[in-house]
Amino acid sequence: LPLAAAALALGYLLGSIPFGLLLTRIAGAGDIRAIGSGNIGATNVLRTGRKGLAAATLLLDALKGTAAVLVAPLLAGGAAGAADLGLLAGLGAFLGHLYPVWLRFRGGKGVATFIGVLIAVSPLVAAGFGVVWLAAAFGTRYSSVGGLSASAATPVLLWLTGQPRAALLFAVLAAITWLKHIPNLKRLAAGTESKIGARGTKAP
Ligand code: G3P
Repeated sequence: LPLAAAALALGYLLGSIPFGLLLTRIAGAGDIRAIGSGNIGATNVLRTGRKGLAAATLLLDALKGTAAVLVAPLLAGGAAGAADLGLLAGLGAFLGHLYPVWLRFRGGKGVATFIGVLIAVSPLVAAGFGVVWLAAAFGTRYSSVGGLSASAATPVLLWLTGQPRAALLFAVLAAITWLKHIPNLKRLAAGTESKIGARGTKAP
C-alpha cells in the first residue's frame, strides 16, 4: 500500500505541472485562462495563434502521463505488481492535470494526458485513439468532439484487445473527461463551440 500511494503521488506531481499555462506565460502570450475557452490545454493554446506553443503543450502534457506510467514501476524495483503501479501513477497524472493543487484544483480537461498515459499502457490502442481523434476532430472541425469520441472508444478498444484492467481504468478516465467537457457539450448543442483554427480573444 505505501508503494501504491507513492505511485499515485508521483503521478499526481508530474500531472499537475500546467505546461499550457507555463509555456504561454514564458512566451509572453498572456494568461491562457483569459483566452478562448479559458482551458489550459493545447486546443486553447492554439487559439492564441501560436502553433508551436500549442504543439509543445500537447507534447509535454502527454509526456508527463507517459513518464508517470513508465517511471512508477521502478519504485517496486522490478517486484510483482509493478505494472499496477504504472496504472496507478497514470491515474495520478491524469488527476494531477485535471485537479492541480497549484491552480486551486482548476486544471485541464485531460485529453493530452489521457493519450500520454495510453501510449505507455498500450501503443496499439493509443494508435487507435489517434485515428478516432483525427477522424472525429477533422471531420467536425471540433477538437472537443475528437477528445470525446477517442476517449469513449478507448475502453472498448482495450477490452477488445484483452486488457480488462486497463479498460476499467480508462473507462473511469473517459467518464471524468466527459464530465470536464460539459461546457463543450453545451456549446456544441448550442452551435457555439469554436472550430479548430479559430482564434479566441476572451473567455465566455
Ligand atoms: O482537450 C480539450 C479539448 O477537447 C477542448 O478544449 O479549449 O475547446 O475547451 P477547449
